Amino acid sequence: ARITFLLPDGTRQVLDSGDDPTVMHVAVRANLPFLPADCGGQLACASCMVEVPEAWRGRVGDPGLDEGDMIEDALGTRPAGRRLSCQIAVTEALDGLEVVLLDRQG
Ligand code: FES
Repeated sequence: ARITFLLPDGTRQVLDSGDDPTVMHVAVRANLPFLPADCGGQLACASCMVEVPEAWRGRVGDPGLDEGDMIEDALGTRPAGRRLSCQIAVTEALDGLEVVLLDRQG
C-alpha cells in the first residue's frame, strides 16, 4: 500500500509499505523523523503516535483498549484520530492512507 506521511514542517513523504506489517514499520524503515518507535512495536512506548486525518478514521478504526489507555497516559486525554502507528496493520484497504507525524511525542 502507498502511505503518505505528513511531516510537521509541511513536507510529505510518500512511501510504499512493501512487506512492512504496520504503519510504524514503514516510517522506521525510511528513517522518518518524529517517530522513534522506541519499543519496536511492543505497545509500550507511545512514541509511534500519529494523527489520522478525519477522512481516514473510519477505515483505520479506533485504538484498541490497551492502545487507547497508552494514548491517554501519554497525553492525559484521547484526542480523536490519535493512534499508535505500530498498531495500524497495513492492508490494501489502506492504500493511499495519509497520517500526520507529531512534533511532540509523549
Ligand atoms: Fe512503542 Fe508503538 S512503537 S508503542
